[in-house]
Amino acid sequence: MDRIIFDTDSAVFNDDAAALAMLARRPDVVDILGVTVVAGNYPVPQGAEHMLHLLELIGADNIPLHLGAHSPLVNSPSRAALQEARWGPVSFKGAFDASGTVLPPHGGRFAGARPRTTGAVPFIIDTIEQYPNEVTLVAMGPMTNVALALQRRPDLAPLVKRLVFMGGNARVPGNVTPAAEFNIWFDPEAAHAVTASAVPQIVMFGLDITNHAPLQRSMFDRIVAADAPLTRLMQHDMGPRFDANPAATYQVWDCITAAWLIDPTIVTVSERLPIAVETTFGPTYGGTSVGIPSTAPTLDVMLDLDVEKFFSLYEGLLTRR
Ligand code: RIB
Ligand code: CA
Repeated sequence: MDRIIFDTDSAVFNDDAAALAMLARRPDVVDILGVTVVAGNYPVPQGAEHMLHLLELIGADNIPLHLGAHSPLVNSPSRAALQEARWGPVSFKGAFDASGTVLPPHGGRFAGARPRTTGAVPFIIDTIEQYPNEVTLVAMGPMTNVALALQRRPDLAPLVKRLVFMGGNARVPGNVTPAAEFNIWFDPEAAHAVTASAVPQIVMFGLDITNHAPLQRSMFDRIVAADAPLTRLMQHDMGPRFDANPAATYQVWDCITAAWLIDPTIVTVSERLPIAVETTFGPTYGGTSVGIPSTAPTLDVMLDLDVEKFFSLYEGLLTRR
């Protein structure tokens, strides 16, 4: 049984919420000790409402949710604007572009469960202390919360069982700039600090692997045909794009990380590679690349998967009642 902390930058459904639902539906394999929210796709207050709603919808609102870092260590909206002015567009800036208004989730009603009063960073610290060598940190968004916890308590890094993160791009282009993937771009300094930390094992699910498994309309249609509370949320969130363009696809990024935690045999190719995070403010800010072993930390980089096996797990878990 893996004890995990699910650190998330949220999404309405795709993909953080779907990943959390998948994991919450396998309590025989994964014990979710808490959900910690970080700024990324959404600002923290809005992201927290999405995740609380999701937890309520799947009957898992006993899992505590903790609010985390509202902004990255260094990156900021003004820095992003400067980057765009100097070196070209950043195609998605997530929370940097959001208004301060917190909207109710799908259904128009805020969830009954509220965030715990303990913040994400003290929660992460306390949990590692409580379960030394047992906690898997699952980072599905920018790594700000994890970086702050390890910055405050570097002695705890060797006591983490492992860090598993969605982010980066070793040998393929980025998805927000030609060089960078969103989670790493949003907080490169955090990713740099965390990947260079003394956490014993770090597993990277970057675009190299996630690009292989886009969600197609046929699979989407099969899932939403289940017409359950969770699949109705999926329909609400993801249906309009398929309605507008039946040939559209969705990347399901974080769900691949979640699937691996449930069944590691979905990954067919991985390598131990030195991964360098670019923290110099320039056109490749936030990029990750295969670096020089003596200077870059060595990570377990996941590169390819059994797409059919993955989608069978994804469909089975999301349609489960
Ligand atoms: O680049 C994809 C990642 O950015 C995913 O984790 C998505 O949810 C966003 O956080
Ligand atoms: Ca995410």
